[in-house]
Amino acid sequence: MSSAPTLVQIEDIQKYFPLTRSLTETLRGHAKLAIRAVDGVSFNVNHGESVGLIGESGSGKTTLGWLISRLHEPTAGRILFEGQDVAHLQGTRLRAWRRNVQVVFQDPVGSLDPRMRVWEIVSEPIRAQEPGLGRAELRRRVAELLPTVGLMPEILDQYPHEFSGGGRQRLSLARALSLRPKLIVLDEPTSALDVAVQAQILNRLVALQSEFRFAYLLITHNVSAVKYVADRVAVLYLGKLAEIGSVREVLEHPTHPYTKALLAALPVPDVRRRRARYRISGEIPTLIRPPPGCRFATRCPFVIDRCRVEEPLLRSIGKDPTHLAACHRAEEVIDIAPETLMAMEGSGAAPSPIAPGSHLVGTTGG
Ligand SMILES: Nc1ncnc2c1ncn2[C@@H]1O[C@H](COP(=O)(O)OP(=O)(O)O)[C@@H](O)[C@H]1O
Ligand code: SF4
Ligand SMILES: [Mg+2]
Repeated sequence: MSSAPTLVQIEDIQKYFPLTRSLTETLRGHAKLAIRAVDGVSFNVNHGESVGLIGESGSGKTTLGWLISRLHEPTAGRILFEGQDVAHLQGTRLRAWRRNVQVVFQDPVGSLDPRMRVWEIVSEPIRAQEPGLGRAELRRRVAELLPTVGLMPEILDQYPHEFSGGGRQRLSLARALSLRPKLIVLDEPTSALDVAVQAQILNRLVALQSEFRFAYLLITHNVSAVKYVADRVAVLYLGKLAEIGSVREVLEHPTHPYTKALLAALPVPDVRRRRARYRISGEIPTLIRPPPGCRFATRCPFVIDRCRVEEPLLRSIGKDPTHLAACHRAEEVIDIAPETLMAMEGSGAAPSPIAPGSHLVGTTGG
């Protein structure tokens, strides 16, 4: 794990998306309802560190990434970036701060304007920060940048449709790098790409980080990508952190039952060992009225009465003080391996599977 100073510290951050209600409902005094996409998350990312963020679809990963890059304004909480609270920055101060954090989106097609040429796309963040720069200087800077993502400077005047998925994601990466940000948020950067190209992009990310010392927040379904790229990993469940710690600790000694279930749901790469995957059972609670206790209680094989009434707080577990989990029974379940969940399923110790399995995948093929 990185011992570098803290770059960004998230404190009890929340993002609630209000549900629109009819005027009649409002007049009848119905309470304002909201989707609690991120509901009190705290963690930090150090300079030059890679933090992976995993969790099923809908757990709030993208919303959290957008909060950290201030594409969303938080409903509550603080975002300390090099000590300065940027949670509610607006106007020119927000624009000036934006050079510090860039986002690479999942969909390299949707995130690139099809009418813009390569040099215009890649220089977008530079033009926003330095509007006075001329065309020749912008083209020169982009031509210099392209080889760092494995593209030739000759492509300056091409359009995005002339590139493959991997090529377009390289363009997104070049655009994100153009201002040498301190943090790059990568939201499922390889999930739209085929396996061989995923591996190339991940290799490139690792090489770029060792050259430029960016910090990464890598949002992904791909646990192999987390193993390869990240120093630490955070596990998000329904808008709250279930577990966080070094990649080694969390993936080798998962403590939270949700993390164990996610890892048990991974496909086994060796065909001879292939077996039914664990499916996390039980109903997923709504983010509009989440249950009062542990949010995983409706699906957890280890649930006890206390879990349904008292919310478990994130706390240090085991020998490593930086390994935190939010579970009342962490000490009791710490030694239960993910594979054991499968056996419990068969023995009737856990509820029967009704929910679709996790969306996580285990291999990148490279
Ligand atoms: N702009 C929005 N307005 C309303 N609800 C949203 C918005 N963005 C996300 N959500 C909801 O917030 C929850 C978390 O979404 P998201 O952050 O996209 O999760 P993930 O990236 O983990 O799949 C989902 O229930 C989603 O429908
Ligand atoms: S607090 Fe209870 S319900 Fe929640 S994960 Fe731990 S054992 Fe399961
Ligand atoms: Mg997402």
